[in-house]
Amino acid sequence: MASHSFLLQLSLIITALHTAVSQPFIGVNYGQVADDLPAPEVSAELLKSTTVGKVRLYGADPAIIKALANSGIGIVIGVANGDIPSLASDPDSATQWVNANVLPHYPESNITLIAVGNEIIKSGDDGLASQLLPAMQNVQNALNSASLGGKIKVSTVHSMAVLTQSEPPSAGSFDPALMDILQPLVAFLKNNESPFAINPYPFFAYQSDPRPETLAFCLFQPNSGRVDQGNGNVYSNMLDAQVDAVQSGLSSMGMEDMEIVIAETGWPSRGDTNEVGATLENARAYNGNLIAHLRSMVGTPSMPGKSVDTFIFALYDEDLKPGPASERAFGLFKTDLTMSYDVGLDNSASSHKNPPTGPVTPAPKRETEWCIPKVEVSEAQLQTNVDYICGSQVIDCGPIQPGGACYEPNTVLSHAAFAMNLYYQKVGRNPWNCDFSQTAMLTSQNPSYSACVYPGEST
Ligand SMILES: *[C@@H]1O[C@H](CO)[C@@H](O)[C@H](O)[C@H]1NC(C)=O
Repeated sequence: MASHSFLLQLSLIITALHTAVSQPFIGVNYGQVADDLPAPEVSAELLKSTTVGKVRLYGADPAIIKALANSGIGIVIGVANGDIPSLASDPDSATQWVNANVLPHYPESNITLIAVGNEIIKSGDDGLASQLLPAMQNVQNALNSASLGGKIKVSTVHSMAVLTQSEPPSAGSFDPALMDILQPLVAFLKNNESPFAINPYPFFAYQSDPRPETLAFCLFQPNSGRVDQGNGNVYSNMLDAQVDAVQSGLSSMGMEDMEIVIAETGWPSRGDTNEVGATLENARAYNGNLIAHLRSMVGTPSMPGKSVDTFIFALYDEDLKPGPASERAFGLFKTDLTMSYDVGLDNSASSHKNPPTGPVTPAPKRETEWCIPKVEVSEAQLQTNVDYICGSQVIDCGPIQPGGACYEPNTVLSHAAFAMNLYYQKVGRNPWNCDFSQTAMLTSQNPSYSACVYPGEST
């Protein structure tokens, strides 16, 4: 029984590692279009071994909801598109839906949101769209009757196709043809303090513009950045640009404070030969850098200082998904529970140390050196470094956050210099730890100033 002893081993490891460092802004989509998925209890243990704080289900599988009981993990459950007509036309059917799918599990299972339908609102398709809001309202009423209004939110999930313009982000706007439906829907979200949920995929943006500089921009890798001519914001990655385009659309509807949730984003680790960029390296880079970006709490240019709640697509590869090969290869994990690639989600502290890939001979003794940015490096590249370093959890970025000794001057250059040096001193004073994709250099000039001390090394 190999699988049995593997489970035992897994649960021992998890017991040893479960240090409860889950992060509420990191979520994952638990898709089930597969015939080889691990049992719900096994998946629940897997999730608890990570820093994932939230899970989104496309339906309301009771076995999974139960398996997540008392884990604290936030659970988004879904109403299938096909259930929308009956929920819209019959309040009793919404009551029954909540009675069957929510009440038996709550509050042991931490259901936080009901997503009514997925990517319903599209141009030229008003079949279900006109029934969406009535269905959401009936589900909300049913929750209110069960005294769960406000505790469990109701929303729906949109594709990026609801925007007709997303470049530059400050000009982001919704399709005017959808306004009759979006306007009251957004008013409903505001009345109930529910979030606007969207599925941005930089992977698809790269497919339509497959240049190397676009790839770096999509993968959160060092790049020259894109200036938004509308407001002067500098974007260092595509996802922030997509989310801020949505924010601009909401702002122009008077909803600038509405919370945005990324209900899905991800990158496939393989694809058909015509699916450019669908590789293991790119998937690791996208999801790993995304997680680091979220952990840095830097936010987006339009919404700084806070990480948008983000559900990565997806927990597992889904072998029964139709369509191009990439559709079956978005999983962070394979269904045998091995990682598709490591993105630093393991919640054991030790996993955050990246072993150097270079030679491990100790560097010869030399005079004190500090690691600082090279002069010609762009702000976007520096921000990428800050995101990576502060997201890695290896060092404490407190000194460059508001109130910290090195917060002033509040510039990306100053913050990056401090973070890059601290990383170098902490992770190991080896040349490869002062590289940051060739954006860094060593100096013997002490960069410390007033109360801001840059740690260094003495011979
Ligand atoms: C439920 O999940 C939400 C979202 O992750 C989290 O903020 C909250 O603390 C969780 N509640 C409990 C009781 O664990």
